Amino acid sequence: MDDMTPRGPIALDGPVASGKSTVGLGIARRLGWTFIDTGLLYRVVGLLALRIEPPARSDESLERIAVEAEMRIDSMSVHVNGEDVTALIHSAEVAQMASRVAELSPVRRALVTKQREMAAQAGGSVVMAGRDIGTVVLRDAPIKIYLDASPEARAGRRFAEEHARGTPRTFTDVLADLRERDRRDAERADSPLRPAPDARRLVTDSLSVEQVIDRVLDHVRGN
Ligand code: DC
Repeated sequence: MDDMTPRGPIALDGPVASGKSTVGLGIARRLGWTFIDTGLLYRVVGLLALRIEPPARSDESLERIAVEAEMRIDSMSVHVNGEDVTALIHSAEVAQMASRVAELSPVRRALVTKQREMAAQAGGSVVMAGRDIGTVVLRDAPIKIYLDASPEARAGRRFAEEHARGTPRTFTDVLADLRERDRRDAERADSPLRPAPDARRLVTDSLSVEQVIDRVLDHVRGN
C-alpha cells in the first residue's frame, strides 16, 4: 500500500440505475479491491421467492430464504446454494420482486449480516454498492459516495443495457418501472434510500463512466 492508497471501505449508494455497479467495479479494479453489489443479494431472494408458490410467500418464508441461502458474489457473478444464477437475476420480474422483498425488515436484517461478513472478509479493501451502505451496512465507512442522476437519464441507460442484452422493453415501460422502484426505495420504513449526511453527492447526468470514476478517485485521494 502506498500513500495514495485510500483507506476503505468505500460505501457507494444511489437510486436505481445510477451507475453504481459499473462505477463501483471500475473503482475497485483501479484500486485492486473487491467489489460487492449488494443489490444482487436482494435479487437472489427475489428469484428464490418467485420460485415458490404464492401461498408460501409469507414474510416468514422470505426471511428463511434470506437467512438460509448460501450466497457467493464474485464481481458480477452470483451463486446461490451452489447454483450459478447470474443469467437469471437481471430480469425486470426479478428486479420488481427484489424491490418488494427489500421492504421487509427480517429480510434486510439477514442480508445486512451477510453483507457485513462479505466486507469483513475483504479486509476493508472493498467497494460496496447499494441503497443503505453509508447509512446502515457500513455506517463507519471513511468514504461515502452518493451517485444520482435524473430518472430520464437513468432510464435511458437501463434501456440501452436491456437492448444490448436482447431483452428490450419500451423506454416508457423502463421509466415507469424505475419510478415505481424509486418510490419503494425512498418510502420504505426500514432503511429508506437517502444520502448519508457525510456522503459526497455526485450528479452524473452529463458525465461518462470514466469521468465519474475519476471524480470518485480524486475524492477518495483527498483532492
Ligand atoms: O441495485 P439493484 O437494482 O440490483 O437492487 C435490487 C433491489 O434491491 C432494489 O430495488 C432495492 C433493493 N436494495 C436495497 O434495498 N438495499 C440495497 N443495499 C441494495 C438493493
